[in-house]
Amino acid sequence: MVRLGGVSALIGGTFSAMPTAVESSFASRTHAMLESLKQSGQLKHLQTIEGPMDATVCVRGFGEVACFCSNNYLGLANHPEVVQAGIDGLRKYGAGTASVRFICGTFACHESLEATIAKFYGVDASYTFTSCWNANEAIFPTLCEPGDMLVSDELNHASIIDGIRLAVSIKKGLHRTVYKNGDMEMLDAKLAEARRNPEVTGTLWVVTDGVFSMEGSVANLPKIRDVCDRHGALLVVDDSHGTGVMGPTGRGTHEHWNMPASKVDYFTGTLGKALGGGAGGYIAGSRQAMDLLVQRGRPTLFSNALPCTVACSAQKAIEILMREPQRVSTLRNNVAAARAGIRSVGFEVLDSTTAICPIMVHDTAKAIAMSKRLLELGVFVIGFGFPVVPEGHARLRVQISAVHTAEHIQKLVDGLTQVRREFS
Ligand SMILES: Cc1ncc(COP(=O)(O)O)c(C=O)c1O
Repeated sequence: MVRLGGVSALIGGTFSAMPTAVESSFASRTHAMLESLKQSGQLKHLQTIEGPMDATVCVRGFGEVACFCSNNYLGLANHPEVVQAGIDGLRKYGAGTASVRFICGTFACHESLEATIAKFYGVDASYTFTSCWNANEAIFPTLCEPGDMLVSDELNHASIIDGIRLAVSIKKGLHRTVYKNGDMEMLDAKLAEARRNPEVTGTLWVVTDGVFSMEGSVANLPKIRDVCDRHGALLVVDDSHGTGVMGPTGRGTHEHWNMPASKVDYFTGTLGKALGGGAGGYIAGSRQAMDLLVQRGRPTLFSNALPCTVACSAQKAIEILMREPQRVSTLRNNVAAARAGIRSVGFEVLDSTTAICPIMVHDTAKAIAMSKRLLELGVFVIGFGFPVVPEGHARLRVQISAVHTAEHIQKLVDGLTQVRREFS
């Protein structure tokens, strides 16, 4: 039997359950892709965690291992108060809103979380989403208009890249361009060029990560702000990896540079890393922009609100961070100790105060094999390769938490020493 385009045909008078031509060509293409990943040692295996996220985690098949690959920077994911707040939220509000925000999906805990995020940054207002990916998909298509120009750092997170692509595809006449990572001359030139472009009649937007997630490097926000001011551009910072980590009180990358939050026009960020680790994202900035997002942001007009359990846990995590800024200095000390330890093994690691310590391995298969061996040695570190990072830039990404002890860091160093010996 041959079925084409969903139409069945009988050949030789018998039925058979053979796939359609479309199905079989999809299946063989997919099989070939997965096979080629397997053959080249690039196939990712999802590890299953059988308990809470903490300094150590229980990984199925490996038992308890020291965890150096979570974004649980402040160790709040399993903090008793954060967990209890989620339980209380579940009891008070039930499982969820069963609605998008503008119909009947806004609970008191959303309002209260948004006020807390705004207070944390010291800005007018914030609006939450089920993820920062969603926040980045909302901000550009909603706030940008035809005639505007978006200028984005080349190393920005995939959610910014896709958010911008979406905005440009929805709004014809909205422009975008990219500048080399941290290259202020190029940024300046791109903005000057935009100002000369007769098609660019609206707002210029500069978009950057605060902390670049794969490099662990820091955007020079004061310099970027200067360039923005020279050309009258707005600045958007996604500080997903800087919030709770950077600056003396963990306010983020602007605080690291001793820069008031008012110098950043809009922040986007996640609640799925330092701020509780559950899920959720937000945009923070002017009241007016948040009002527009309520009216026009497609991810909130057409998708459910952040679950109440998560909203309540995230709110508690932010309160703990504001109450206990010493968690940030503990993290900073751990970061310094871990970087020194990684260097003592003979690996190069970027000099930075961020909690992301990439060890360059270059080859994807080698990074994956090293990470597998580390797990056998009781150290959970992930190898990142293409397409998460460009081809030839594979790395082990070590991430530090405030809940790591000197013993955990020593275990990391011992594991790295062993794999360096075995893989060199
Ligand atoms: C810079 C940056 N932005 C956005 C995101 C997406 O965050 P979420 O998991 O909340 O969607 C991430 C997550 O890896 C990130 O690193």
